[in-house]
Amino acid sequence: MTQQFEFILTSREGRVGLVQFNRPAALNALNRQLMAETISALEAFDADSEIGCMVLTGNERAFAAGADIKEMANATPAAMLDNPFIDYWDRLRKISKPVIAAVSGFALGGGCELAMACDMIVASESARFGQPEINLGVIPGAGGTQRLTLAVGKALAMEMVLNGRFLSADEAYRFGLVNRVFPVENHLEETLKLANEIAARAPVALRMAKEAVNAIFEMPLAAGLAHERRLFYMLFSTEDQKEGMEAFINKRPANWQGR
Ligand code: HXC
Repeated sequence: MTQQFEFILTSREGRVGLVQFNRPAALNALNRQLMAETISALEAFDADSEIGCMVLTGNERAFAAGADIKEMANATPAAMLDNPFIDYWDRLRKISKPVIAAVSGFALGGGCELAMACDMIVASESARFGQPEINLGVIPGAGGTQRLTLAVGKALAMEMVLNGRFLSADEAYRFGLVNRVFPVENHLEETLKLANEIAARAPVALRMAKEAVNAIFEMPLAAGLAHERRLFYMLFSTEDQKEGMEAFINKRPANWQGR
């Protein structure tokens, strides 16, 4: 990747593309440029056949403390319609390869919504999740009321959205918001290990698997089941399906080609 970024760092760890927010003085508050850079880096990794999975992370103190309040403070509805910041969260939804959020410290407001728009969340013990927009006289605007409720249920989501309750990493794990919790010291390393395991899997099946699971959030069950079945049948047209099943039968590891 040759692009130069101001607010993020990017690197490759094996078949994993790593995007790290780099605006520490503002606790990685999500301004327009940071979001534009993040989505552009993720889209570039998504189009790169050497990459199988992405990790999105911040630093030990903050994943992201929300949308940039200073940038938003004087906005009007018309200005927001003209320059739709929240479209970046929709573009994240369209990334076809798995994206894992590695969350340490604060994941608040738009930061929590960004983590929830990823496919998995791996937390460090210091992670804090919250939708504190009510304290600013607004509500979550990038999926928080919807994705949080789907993840943790109505009772807890209401408490977080109406009253600004934060969840610790342990609570987030117990309520099903995050996949794993690691100590701060090896959190990123463990997330990258998990991401590399996923990235080593059959590339086409991986994308179809993500699409099929996400269908439950997009369509009624009958349509989701039909969609899953079409994707399943479609995978029988790939060389990797023949390879995977032949490798199993011959008791050898599969060698995926991504086609
Ligand atoms: C802009 C922010 C910021 C934010 C922190 N900072 N969060 N700047 N937007 N969301 C800045 C502070 O102004 C400060 O800058 C520096 O980061 C350090 O923050 P402190 O407040 O001094 O740190 P601390 O006392 O440790 O408190 C941490 C905190 C607090 C609890 C996370 O910063 C906080 O409450 N932040 C706002 C969280 C929030 O309300 N998020 C939701 C935003 S609305 P200076 O220059 O003073 O050093 C949202 C809507 C999304 O996300 C809608 C869809 C996109």
